Amino acid sequence: MKVKNICCIGAGYVGGPTMSVIAQKCPEINVTVVDLNEKRIAAWNDEDVDNIPIYEPGLSAVVADARGRNLFFSTDVDEAIDKADMIFISVNTPTKTYGIGKGMAADLKWIELCARQIARVATSDKIVVEKSTLPVRTAQALKNILDNTGNGVNFQILSNPEFLAEGTAVDDLLKPDRVLIGGDLDTEKGKDAMQALVDIYAHWVPQANILTTNVWSSELSKLTANAFLAQRVSSINAMSELCEVTGADVNEVAKAVGMDSRIGPKFLKASVGFGGSCFQKDILNLVYIAKSFGLNEVADYWEQVILMNDHQKRRFAANIVKTLYNTVSGKKISMLGWAFKKDTNDTREAASIYVADYLLNEQAEIVVYDPKVTEEQIYADLDYLGSRPDEENRKLVKVVNTSKEACNEAHAIAVMTEWDEFVEIDWQTVYENMLKPAFLFDGRKLLDKHKMKDLGFKFYAIGN
Ligand code: NAI
Repeated sequence: MKVKNICCIGAGYVGGPTMSVIAQKCPEINVTVVDLNEKRIAAWNDEDVDNIPIYEPGLSAVVADARGRNLFFSTDVDEAIDKADMIFISVNTPTKTYGIGKGMAADLKWIELCARQIARVATSDKIVVEKSTLPVRTAQALKNILDNTGNGVNFQILSNPEFLAEGTAVDDLLKPDRVLIGGDLDTEKGKDAMQALVDIYAHWVPQANILTTNVWSSELSKLTANAFLAQRVSSINAMSELCEVTGADVNEVAKAVGMDSRIGPKFLKASVGFGGSCFQKDILNLVYIAKSFGLNEVADYWEQVILMNDHQKRRFAANIVKTLYNTVSGKKISMLGWAFKKDTNDTREAASIYVADYLLNEQAEIVVYDPKVTEEQIYADLDYLGSRPDEENRKLVKVVNTSKEACNEAHAIAVMTEWDEFVEIDWQTVYENMLKPAFLFDGRKLLDKHKMKDLGFKFYAIGN
């Protein structure tokens, strides 16, 4: 079958960019991205394409190309479902905050709501594509809901997990290492549905990079990929602590190790710890699944990746306090960067939030500058932790518009995000305008250690 109309439920960091690229590459297919969040949809429709709600290099140009032609953003979920031959579910699947599996399992309530809505509205056959990251065997639950509450139409469920990384989403979508499509390989209808999705990606992705598997392999591959990626970060971060006490340099170790072709050089950068909406939640979910099958050793093995990451964030913050003569009470600490990585405005699970929280508990005064994150978001992130009254966060944390303002008269600076512009800062002037001794903590190994020391900074970098 040839797909003519696509609906994507969820206009977030995944739904927005993936559907924009599909629309750009498949001009004969109408793509409608829907969301319950009216503000988000209004921003996607903003006349000025630079005001779309997600910052990703190259994204506004893709949206400008396709929007209004065959790419639409809407809050009318029912209408888009009704019209579509293929429906992507790209809603959030955060860690559960209540009940059984609290703090571990993925909360599938938004997925189930989507399934029930699709079942209620659909009066023609639909291909339903899991784009969200889901626990292995979720497709079975979706199928049960669709078949038992639907109007007697046929639903084919596919798993098509997304491997894009925020900050490079458009490049990743245009040139994916692979596209993974899981489906029912045992029936003709299942195979037809998979082919329909293969045909969409084949507009721009070489056939050799489009993998088809059974549904369970596809669902589990996404969790596995994120677990392996996060494990590399925790592995090098564990080594960074050992480097600090032995005089080894973690960059040199990473380079030497990464030149082994079996290991490879990517994703071996020590840092203050990984953040982002996915790694932690997906590993916790993996741990939960393993435990639920009684696989305790498997669960413990992966849980350690998270414990190491928590430790890395905590020890970075603790080192600031220790270095500043065991007290930061009333001291001004400048945080450069709030986003969980450069080139995104996403702050979910960012290390900066936890480091700030730790320092606030020590009564520090914090001044934050991030080129893309709003003041509103920074306060929302801190308020969400519930560590102190919201007013207190507003009293102790200031958000400013330049790095210069953030660093003036600071006791210490912490580099939290590896934004390119932080390398270009006039560090000489920053040094002159700080209180002395001028402490600089590089949580991203971004700055030149020798240069910073020559300027007079008391310089601390992870793993050095
Ligand atoms: P997000 O939170 O940015 O977007 C999800 C959107 O879905 C929200 O705007 C929300 O309002 C909307 N939504 C929720 N329930 C809805 C409903 N019933 N009807 C209509 N809209 C609804 O989340 P994000 O980051 O896009 O992630 C989505 C999924 O993709 C998650 O499962 C995540 O694990 C996965 N993923 C995320 C990646 C990332 O880098 N952010 C990468 C790969 C996968």
